Amino acid sequence: MDIFDAIHRRRAVRRYLPRPVAREDIYRILDAANWAPSAMNLQQWEFLVVTGKKIREMGESFHAIVGGYAREGASPPGGEEFLRFARTYGGAPAVIVVLTDAADAPNMQRANLESASAAMENLLLAATALGLGTCWMTGPLQDERSLRTILDIPAEKEIVAVTPLGYPDEAPPPRPRHDPDLGRKVRWVE
Ligand SMILES: Cc1cc2nc3c(=O)[nH]c(=O)nc-3n(C[C@H](O)[C@H](O)[C@H](O)COP(=O)(O)O)c2cc1C
Repeated sequence: MDIFDAIHRRRAVRRYLPRPVAREDIYRILDAANWAPSAMNLQQWEFLVVTGKKIREMGESFHAIVGGYAREGASPPGGEEFLRFARTYGGAPAVIVVLTDAADAPNMQRANLESASAAMENLLLAATALGLGTCWMTGPLQDERSLRTILDIPAEKEIVAVTPLGYPDEAPPPRPRHDPDLGRKVRWVE
């Protein structure tokens, strides 16, 4: 698939088929992530491939966060549907967690986060090119302590984002762009 097609076809997918994803496809996707640019060429990212009962444990943690919004009266986006998504990560057979190096200096924090985010976007686009769905998620980080315990993530690593990975069981429509003609978002400077 052409890179521009992948960019335009990628969607946040929140419902997945139970069909497993071949390990070689997961490696292909993570190889694409590993080819992202990085500040000072540190390649400061790592990937956890989570499957099985660990997804359920992560889901319990995220479900509790989302359920908390509901109890406070601010219904979660998508209501019951979103609660279901939260509990099972949409039924995805795998969840990828992207980590980077923890840093004290703000400039390094930024460099690490930006580099790992570049890897994350490569991951999403490579998955799209293979017909797989993803959803960039930072909501689950609201219960970071649980995530660290469930996945045994040491303090030297920062959690950047999480995405389910699987064959989509929905075809979400494109979310309209705020300025599709780029009249306001682009300024040419000479
Ligand atoms: C930094 C970041 C954090 C996000 N966190 C969540 C999340 O916690 N839960 C979720 O369902 N979607 C999350 N999303 C997905 C966005 O909601 C989605 O990308 C947006 O609505 C546009 O839809 P599209 O990706 O299909 O174009 C996140 C996206 C980004 C880039």
